[in-house]
Amino acid sequence: MSIQAPETATRIQLDEREMPTRWYNIQADLPFPGSPPLHPATRQPVGPQDLAPLFPMELIKQEVSQERYIDIPPPVQEALRLWRPTPLMRAVRLERELKTTARIYYKYEGGSPPGSHKPNTAVAQAFYNKAEGTRRLTTETGAGQWGSALAFATKLFDLECMVYMVRISYEQKPYRKSMMHVWGAEVVPSPSDRTQAGQRIRAENPESTGSLGIAISEAIEDAAGKDDTKYSLGSVLNHVLMHQTIIGQEALQQMERAGAMPDLVVGCVGGGSNFSGLAFPFLRERLTGRSKTRFLAVEPAACPTMTRGKFAYDFGDTIGMTPLLEMYTLGHGFVPDGIHAGGLRYHGMAPLVSGLANHGFIEPVAYPQRAVFDAAVQFARAEGTIPAPETAHAIRAVIDEAVRARERGESPVILFNFSGHGLLDLAAYDSYFAGTMSDVTLSEARIQELVAAL
Ligand SMILES: Cc1ncc(COP(=O)(O)O)c(C=O)c1O
Repeated sequence: MSIQAPETATRIQLDEREMPTRWYNIQADLPFPGSPPLHPATRQPVGPQDLAPLFPMELIKQEVSQERYIDIPPPVQEALRLWRPTPLMRAVRLERELKTTARIYYKYEGGSPPGSHKPNTAVAQAFYNKAEGTRRLTTETGAGQWGSALAFATKLFDLECMVYMVRISYEQKPYRKSMMHVWGAEVVPSPSDRTQAGQRIRAENPESTGSLGIAISEAIEDAAGKDDTKYSLGSVLNHVLMHQTIIGQEALQQMERAGAMPDLVVGCVGGGSNFSGLAFPFLRERLTGRSKTRFLAVEPAACPTMTRGKFAYDFGDTIGMTPLLEMYTLGHGFVPDGIHAGGLRYHGMAPLVSGLANHGFIEPVAYPQRAVFDAAVQFARAEGTIPAPETAHAIRAVIDEAVRARERGESPVILFNFSGHGLLDLAAYDSYFAGTMSDVTLSEARIQELVAAL
């Protein structure tokens, strides 16, 4: 598949007019049937009316759409053009340092105003909500990347924004909270005393560090009870993953321009959105037999959803308010340890990513956080840009693959998603340098206990 590069450009930039104007919906090309979300009470497939209290109808339609391409509305395109198209970079200096025979490319999503891939869907969700009369959006956030993306997007489309932020991140990453305040959002640490879900968790464990599952329960409860309020999710759901495919569609054009098609596509996975955004347009080629590209999804060893979890129906949140989704999961009650990659602390995984992994199209791999930070620092010292701890998971896997290629005398083209910069995660780097960062391992007994509860 690898083609000799006609040029050795380190930065491949698209013109503004070359930004894709449609999203790619992989549901149209799946070689296996999808599993419907089930109603939490009846256990029957949910219908559009079940989801209407939480989401605008256009997003519900996208969630179940079988159309291969969906047009990006012009106001969303205009918002995306604030930072898109994003550059594709060749990591020439890292390649040289690793003495690898591989070629390493990355799609740089850290240049958006909030600093990650998350606003690609946030602007779309804010637009559709505004168009259908929503006044206020609620959401959860782990590391604060998603919360700051939605705060930014709701400001662009003149909506109010309420963010439930996982308590440990609220304490570890105070400047993410400041960003949300700049864009006019309200932010509370979760579990909070604003909702019954939060009150219940705090009564059980007053010291709870929170989790994405708990924060989702709080945000849903807040939205479900109010006519003018809807809920917005930053990952996991089909429509969210689809909004991210603008990344991969740009990358396809850029890789063509570089004269190199990837043999391996890599991304970190929390709920699966940045990985899918880059991977799905390339997976289309694999699903239709036009490529043999491999796809590697990298997760933390402290939250090994795909490498050690079970493929089963489970709730998306902790309390059990969401529809049941068929996915890899560690159980909705699982609260991962407080690792620095807050955006990867999620018990479940997008059903689309889970299904594709279950059918062998995606390979999962897990790393402990100190090895991840070794890679983050090595990357920053070679390439300059400081990655978010989440992104550094992908970088760990890329470095290992590049070294393996050298040892085997192979020369694959590797492409990874640089999902966000780490300039607001410097406390995590301090902890790494101070030697106070620890690795969390989950015993087999604990994993068995978690999945047995499913
Ligand atoms: C920079 C960054 N990368 C990756 C993720 C993981 O989310 P997802 O798997 O939906 O891309 C997050 C989540 O907050 C993030 O902030």
